[in-house]
Amino acid sequence: MANYKGIILAAGRASRLFPITYAVNKQLLAIYDKPMIYYPLSVLMLSQIKDILIIIKKEDLKSFKSLLGNGKQLGIKISYAIQKKPKGIADAFIIGEKFIGKSNCALILGDNIFYGQNFTEKLMSAKSKNNGATVFSYPVNDPQRYGVVEIDKKNNPIRIIEKPKVPKSNLAVTGLYFYDNQIVNIAKSLKPSKRGELEITDVNKVYLKRKNLYMESFGRGFAWLDTGTPESLLTANIFIA
Ligand code: DAU
Repeated sequence: MANYKGIILAAGRASRLFPITYAVNKQLLAIYDKPMIYYPLSVLMLSQIKDILIIIKKEDLKSFKSLLGNGKQLGIKISYAIQKKPKGIADAFIIGEKFIGKSNCALILGDNIFYGQNFTEKLMSAKSKNNGATVFSYPVNDPQRYGVVEIDKKNNPIRIIEKPKVPKSNLAVTGLYFYDNQIVNIAKSLKPSKRGELEITDVNKVYLKRKNLYMESFGRGFAWLDTGTPESLLTANIFIA
């Protein structure tokens, strides 16, 4: 199996949660009895990834370090990097270039919570692919809010569109991605989108074009929880409790 490193991206402003997130990073808020960041961290640990970079805003460095330190107490290695401006999710690989080095890399968004059966198998299946990329899809009621993947009869991805006005499927691309070492060069080759961001969907489109994009599907029995608004944060808390 290829050597994988992991990145957690947790540098957003979380303005939809203001004033809760005015002075506190969203990923440090409680999900029932643990800080939110524990959930993406445990996904990487379930994937047996032990070298992890957490990307945050400068003002959050102190609190993250006092919560997680260098990871030794968890049997992993945690380092930190700063994202100065929210340039896009794919910016994580440019910030993380040195950290990634010659490894493959998994990325998880710091506010994504995954919960359900057979998760480890799906993670291992993604990790076992030495080349290409794997995304994870989940059926949602409001696909226009997400990256949306269209599939063929064999469940292979054929198109990905970021926040389509008229979605052709109800399959959202979740905030968990496994990439081979091409990822750094691909991220560097991207141009900012209309919203001024380096889009993770544009990264996935490159892999799709190269016929190197794989998809794992989560079914209805699985939970992928959003924490972006006060309502969804409350729902996530109640679900986990
Ligand atoms: O949640 C999954 C969705 O995440 C995918 O379906 C979409 O394809 C993908 O583009 C993304 O959707 P959003 O545009 O809604 O992501 P958002 O801007 O909310 O950012 C996701 C998290 O990443 C959030 O906690 C903030 C953090 N972030 C985001 C950006 C753009 C950063 O730390 N730095 C950034 O530059």
